[in-house]
Amino acid sequence: MRHLIDSLDLSVAETQEILDLADRIAADSAAYAHCADGKILATLFYEPSTRTRLSFETAMLNLGGRTLGFAGAEQCSATKGETVADTARVVSCYADIIAMRHPKEGAPMVAAEKSLIPVINAGDGGHQHPTQTLTDLQTIRSLHGDLNNFTIGLCGDLKFGRTVHSLINALVRYEGIKFIFISPEELQIPDYVTDMLREKGIPFQEVIRLEDVMPELDLLYMTRVQKERFFNEEDYVRLKDFYVLTPEKMELAKPDMLVLHPLPRVNEISVEIDDDPRAAYFKQAQFGVYVRMALILTLLGLA
Ligand code: NCD
Repeated sequence: MRHLIDSLDLSVAETQEILDLADRIAADSAAYAHCADGKILATLFYEPSTRTRLSFETAMLNLGGRTLGFAGAEQCSATKGETVADTARVVSCYADIIAMRHPKEGAPMVAAEKSLIPVINAGDGGHQHPTQTLTDLQTIRSLHGDLNNFTIGLCGDLKFGRTVHSLINALVRYEGIKFIFISPEELQIPDYVTDMLREKGIPFQEVIRLEDVMPELDLLYMTRVQKERFFNEEDYVRLKDFYVLTPEKMELAKPDMLVLHPLPRVNEISVEIDDDPRAAYFKQAQFGVYVRMALILTLLGLA
């Protein structure tokens, strides 16, 4: 039985197989409409979500399966003190696969230890978000054309942004990638990430001003300041609008630079950018459904 807790749980070859399957699904979704008939996905979401939970549910429904679950810790027995390990063990009696989001880092891993069915980490605290990473890889591969040889700017909350941490882990396994980390000092990428990059000899740069590096970027990955991970409101208010991507800033970018964002967006991308052909974030959300369909089939042994 396989779980997906960290983007590194899938080898490069397995990642490619899932992305290739997602491509085939995108080309002919109807052909997969009954592949998971009779199977049940449980979405155990202890933290808010729109895209991730709904795209998991859409993915399972598109495959002919069904879904059950809860959206919010207050709705389940966590309020009575039940551990995620016990919850997962019990849900194993009701469903065939679990997607779990939790504010505590490592919670889905603990659940996986006791679960009798595959557990997918749908985001654990500021740690990892491997299905967003599959979505991001598919977006880059499909719209940029290759997972090798590019300069990617990651901008915003690089300290708490789990999608950033997961994506970097996955990207370091490809060739010719340069990372540019764009953040205020308080939200810099954690040392364990830069230590890992140094150890592997992967080029990276840390800057504060987006404008300074914009012309160099092939991809710009914008992120929201993660309000829920701040210890005080004052710091959040000071930092929340540090970056706002505007049409003026986009003029500095390459004509084919793609703008990605895991969403939700708050203020960090002006709505005027939405009509720019380089804005990839809504297409990215669509790719999320196909990769989750491919992942569910793979982990259920139905691919
Ligand atoms: C992200 C998350 O939950 O980490 N959202 C998502 O799943 N697409 C990003 C965020 O909340 O900022």
